[in-house]
Amino acid sequence: MKEQNASARIQELLGRMTLQEKIGQLNQQNICAYADNVEEIKQEIREGKIGSLLFSGSAIPENGGTEAFDLDFTRELQAAAMESRLQIPLLLGRDVIHGFETVFPIPLMMAASFDDRLIEECYSALAQEAGNAGVRWAFAPMLDLSRDPRWGRVIEGPGEDPLLGSRYAASAVRGFQGDSPAQEGRLLACAKHFIGYGASEGGRDYHHTEISNYALQNQYLPAFRAAVRAGVGSVMASFNELSGQPVTGSRRLLTEVLRDQLGFDGFVVSDWGGVEQLEAQGIAENGADCARLALQAGVDMDMADQCFARHLEAEVKAGRVAMEELDRAVERVLQAKLRAGLFRQPVRDAVKTDRAKHRALARRIAGESMVLLKNEQSLLPLSKKGRVALTGCMAQNRESLMGAWTPDGDADSVITLEEGIRAVAPELELFTESSPLFGDMTAVMEQADTVILALGESARASGEFHCLADISLPEDQAALALRARRLGKKVVGLLCFGRPIALGDTLSLFDAILYTGHAGCEAGRAAAELLFGDRNPSGHLAMTLPRSVGQLPLYYNAAPSGRPVNGYYTECRNYIDESGAPLYPFGYGLSYTSFQVEKAELEQETLSLSELAAGKQAVVHIRVTNTGERDGDTVLQLYLRDPAASLTRPLRELKAYERRTLPAGETADFVFRLGMEELGYYLPDGTLTLEKGEIRLFAGFDAWAEKCVRLQII
Ligand code: NOJ
Repeated sequence: MKEQNASARIQELLGRMTLQEKIGQLNQQNICAYADNVEEIKQEIREGKIGSLLFSGSAIPENGGTEAFDLDFTRELQAAAMESRLQIPLLLGRDVIHGFETVFPIPLMMAASFDDRLIEECYSALAQEAGNAGVRWAFAPMLDLSRDPRWGRVIEGPGEDPLLGSRYAASAVRGFQGDSPAQEGRLLACAKHFIGYGASEGGRDYHHTEISNYALQNQYLPAFRAAVRAGVGSVMASFNELSGQPVTGSRRLLTEVLRDQLGFDGFVVSDWGGVEQLEAQGIAENGADCARLALQAGVDMDMADQCFARHLEAEVKAGRVAMEELDRAVERVLQAKLRAGLFRQPVRDAVKTDRAKHRALARRIAGESMVLLKNEQSLLPLSKKGRVALTGCMAQNRESLMGAWTPDGDADSVITLEEGIRAVAPELELFTESSPLFGDMTAVMEQADTVILALGESARASGEFHCLADISLPEDQAALALRARRLGKKVVGLLCFGRPIALGDTLSLFDAILYTGHAGCEAGRAAAELLFGDRNPSGHLAMTLPRSVGQLPLYYNAAPSGRPVNGYYTECRNYIDESGAPLYPFGYGLSYTSFQVEKAELEQETLSLSELAAGKQAVVHIRVTNTGERDGDTVLQLYLRDPAASLTRPLRELKAYERRTLPAGETADFVFRLGMEELGYYLPDGTLTLEKGEIRLFAGFDAWAEKCVRLQII
């Protein structure tokens, strides 16, 4: 619909709405097809008291899955909406985080592929599958920058880096929404959680967050800025209290920052119960205060707690909430419904999906996102004809390989590691035990030359409200590695953990380590292809891998201290009993071949501020050679260091990257362009700035990149 017509339609509707009908549009309720209150909810829909429904699942794989709703059920619900006085369709939402029928790797791993286009394709596939079940709105992508892997939700987002997060955001939004969320097979996306939830102190879920405006602008907001630029239709306000203000009640964050600074023009939904919890968070005395504060802060729709539904009418009648404030929120919700094509087609027929293609995508991205951390004496790839033992808690596991937040996934469709290995290397002599007791594993290992240990954690150890105080390798798993080592075997560790873990000294127990993460329905096959060399590993860490828990939080883009002992990622000691360095830095990942940066050059070594302000860019040419004997994908990364600015800038900031396939022995030229936005930084008030002086750019394959060029800004 043309913009003018759309806004006329909305104004016309608004003009006909009663106060209760307006509030109804802002009320989102949870529904489940097999719950006893379905008829009651339908009646409320007919009465115009509900504008949106969510089919809430659970963070536990397969839990709260497809039986909670289907296309026919959504038809019934929309039919009830069509029986309401104004016939306004419902917006139906679901957590489609990284899987629907097809389960892709957890987002933290998808990000490790550094493959924007592939990520977009995965989200397109999810949009199709979820759309076919009647979902029109996905509560994703989750864009919380997180630096503490104890936080269970670290698995749901793209990790610790603002640029990687921004590109992930844009890919996911494009994947979900395409050119328009109204198109066949597309959905409305929701960038969440705005803002700072990932900074939960100590990695404890729902905990306090403390973020300076400077860090907010430069670290936490960029991914949301990118989502807004990509046209994201909705944003979810986060639960957390941030430097004295619960976000759900913060006009500064939800209106001044999100709308005025970032230019967001969609609608904001609270997180589950986020409105009502303003009381417990200490800025409201009662439910009425909660509803008023949240609405006036910029929350347009209230998820699940019905606080708006219970209190806004009285607040408006008492004049504490102006009708214009209410109308503004209603307009935004109606606008989103129009944009999602709901007025035209409240229910869409299922589109034809190619599940085999989706699985192929799942396999490809799982393969691209697994990170080879260690490979002594080129133990990997393994021969397909050797004698190999496979053991460990994840060897035959299906459910946990799907990862948290996969309520619609089907564990039976997951390829286990054992199945993957058997399929990829059918002639291998593979010794394995289906559910071995500890002693049995020795017998299994003894028969082989190489032991693959499929280590990991349950998908229930991560996700919402599933945080861990200790993320080191569990003792029994380390003991298994020690046993294999003592038997004199070559030891390959597959780390099927949802989050980064702290391997510490157990690192030395392994000859090779492939960090697979929770890699989704094709996990086993993708891992096997890498282990036996059908594919060359190419994933790069989206989060720093610490040595020990005591180092947390540990991230690459820290500020300089001026004292060498606090050097970033250096081998010097910040602790008496621990190094300051991580085990592996952000961006790290090995390959079966080797890449080298031959040369890096700037087209122009000097640029003026006025040229940059006028849109000119610094152009960096980087020559990379595949110096090994195998073809492979490289992820070239470019980091920035601004040694003297008005405000301290991080020791390294990722500013560009590109993934590319390079045949063995070949050389390729990469070109990165950095404009004002990439070279500059944001002041605490949100102004983009860049100052005169030297900027150093480092090209390489992780945050320790070394090849340096210097740009003079005059
Ligand atoms: C709470 C979670 O924080 C949020 O991410 C999710 O979208 C909602 N529940 C709905 O399930």
